[in-house]
Amino acid sequence: MIDLSPYPRIHLAHLPTPLQPLHRLSAHLGGPTIWMKRDDCTGLAFGGNKTRKLEFLMAEAIQANAELVVTFGAWQSNHVRQTVAACAQLGLACEPILSASVPITTDAYQTSGNFFLDQLMGARVHTTTPDNVRETYAALKARETRKLYVVPTGGSNATGSLGYVDCAQELNKQLEDLAITASTVIHASSSAGTQAGLIVGMSAANKPVPVLGINVYEADHEHMLNNVRRLVTETAEKLGTDAIGDEMININHDYLGEGYGIPTDEMLEAVTLLATLEGVLLDPVYSGKAMAAMIDMIRAGRWSKDQQLVFVHTGGAPTLFAYQDRFAR
Ligand SMILES: Cc1ncc(COP(=O)(O)O)c(C=O)c1O
Repeated sequence: MIDLSPYPRIHLAHLPTPLQPLHRLSAHLGGPTIWMKRDDCTGLAFGGNKTRKLEFLMAEAIQANAELVVTFGAWQSNHVRQTVAACAQLGLACEPILSASVPITTDAYQTSGNFFLDQLMGARVHTTTPDNVRETYAALKARETRKLYVVPTGGSNATGSLGYVDCAQELNKQLEDLAITASTVIHASSSAGTQAGLIVGMSAANKPVPVLGINVYEADHEHMLNNVRRLVTETAEKLGTDAIGDEMININHDYLGEGYGIPTDEMLEAVTLLATLEGVLLDPVYSGKAMAAMIDMIRAGRWSKDQQLVFVHTGGAPTLFAYQDRFAR
């Protein structure tokens, strides 16, 4: 067990999140027992995985006497929505920089979902192109007199990853209480913080459950691996735990499709299946593609009927509204 109590933390998330069996999905697939770790239910303005990271990041911001929080994300970023919500709750100003990194220009994509919620919660949103994020930030910094705290993209640094070290430990306790031996923990992976935290947290357990990150973001596989590897190392160093070898880092790159935020048929099927069979709302960008991966691997016979899987639902459902037209087709 890793002791996280020495690290500054504020309360933002509703924890522990439930570990819920997906009986109807398991029966439908005729495969292993599937459990869902409901990190979509962390509670902060529709919840999601970033809330756990923000408990540690926002504590740092407060310690640094920050007055303005700046962060980065895609137009429909869940990370930005949760950061804006945390700032609202803490009375901090928030100016996210959103970049048009997904080639979708529908009215719904550009105005609804998280983009709407950011503004509803009082953020001063800056929009730009992916090539101009640095310049936009430099201009903001140059004119700003308030004390800044910068949350990296996705909240993914060693501080943010502590949230997922905690999640791994919380999950291990739930598995232990239910006497479940899980074969794999599966989740959507992009900026590496969720995966790195889960790996570090799991590695400290008596019987670590392998973590499988589904790449939903990065076309450059080597780059993605290096990001996760680097953050695993930095998080373990921050905690003073043993170094973790590459054998703990498992990333599947087969379900990204044409790119980040671009729907795949398998994602559309997975989101629809979970909605109709379980009343669970996944998202089109992250958890939908990760679920599509898990379903496809189950259909291909990767896990037997007597095995048990954990799918971490990392949230993101507000973007369903931005992609509504894709489901209607
Ligand atoms: C819904 C959802 N799932 C998964 C992820 C991936 O988490 P990470 O950036 O820590 O890899 C994100 C990141 O934005 C997300 O919004």
